[in-house]
Amino acid sequence: MRNINVGLFGFGVVGGGIYKVLEAKPQLGVSIKKIVIKNPEKEREAPLNLFYTDANEIIEDDNLQLVVELIDDSEAAYQIVKRSFEKGKSVISANKKMIAEHHEELIALSQTNGVSFLYEAAVCGSVPIIRNLEEYFDNDLLTHVKGIVNGSTNFILTQMSKYQSSYSEALQLAQEKGFAESNPLLDVEGFDAAYKLSIIALHAFGAKVKQNDIIKKGITSIHQNDLIYAKEKGFQLKLIAQAVVNEQGQASLFSIIPSFVERSNPLGLTNNEYNGVLVGSTLADEQFFYGKGAGRFPTSSAVLSDISAYKYGYKYEFKKGRNNNLVEVVREGRFFLSFPSNKIVDLSDFKTIEESYQSANRNYVVGTLAYQKLKDHPFVNDASYSLIAFNE
Ligand code: HSE
Repeated sequence: MRNINVGLFGFGVVGGGIYKVLEAKPQLGVSIKKIVIKNPEKEREAPLNLFYTDANEIIEDDNLQLVVELIDDSEAAYQIVKRSFEKGKSVISANKKMIAEHHEELIALSQTNGVSFLYEAAVCGSVPIIRNLEEYFDNDLLTHVKGIVNGSTNFILTQMSKYQSSYSEALQLAQEKGFAESNPLLDVEGFDAAYKLSIIALHAFGAKVKQNDIIKKGITSIHQNDLIYAKEKGFQLKLIAQAVVNEQGQASLFSIIPSFVERSNPLGLTNNEYNGVLVGSTLADEQFFYGKGAGRFPTSSAVLSDISAYKYGYKYEFKKGRNNNLVEVVREGRFFLSFPSNKIVDLSDFKTIEESYQSANRNYVVGTLAYQKLKDHPFVNDASYSLIAFNE
């Protein structure tokens, strides 16, 4: 098999990881010839003569067939990927923000130039979800995809509920371990999960989901009392991403919402930086994918798998199309809503309220709400509300 010369952008947690992996496996015939970084002052665990700061060093080098893009800045990444395609280079990327925001244009550009654009590492780290949705789940009709797709928030919630860590301690540990984004708000406010969900939706259902189609609430509003409630009722608290289609296969609900999950549910058993994804289909019912969703070597394993897929010419084909637009379908769910007891709260959007609790500092209600009502609703936008779905 031919040797592959790679230009690598970024030498952070994952970039440094894939360099080490390829160095340890010369038998793969894949060599990183140049590495472009932003800060030349930092110490690097690789020969200095590999490093450059000018992107053209890679983009204009005809000896490099493959670009592996693992930088943080999604706008810079977008420019790099576009120019690489125009130069006939294939690209492997882990930049979920860039892919979610520009996938239509980038996919079209990669197709026009006949190159591969692969991004398994962008979604759920080591868990091979994209290629499975793309290839394996091509015939059986999918009904939903539901899961934990952000390792940092799952790590934080696990540390808070199992080890009574404070939110800030747990977040700091997630950063130290290299799970969190450099701007951790992307994790804790649910943006990272929303980018991943839109990529999942594309490969699962051919759905074109924009970021503001996704009902999104992160984990920053969760109150200590909510964790106590979860414990008392035998639930685990998880940040759940879900994508659902209606009976006609039309894209109908996309959300990222903290959720109470039964302890026996596979998602309830998914802890720390692990991710878990349930894929629902008409014939197989539900299947579960589980593995490390963040971190240096788990993410490198997905990049490595894409490199080997590239070697045999693999390209995503988008067999389910790319034009399944969102339709409005009324879908109700059961929710828990907690808020400071001195807050005046309009509960009129609840269809039913089955439980209501008041205490000196924090109140809560449990009832049913239509998901559609939650778009741009104070319950999701206002940080003093903690809105948690029951996973039913
Ligand atoms: N910050 C991301 C996470 C990294 O915690 O899941 C992997 O995409």
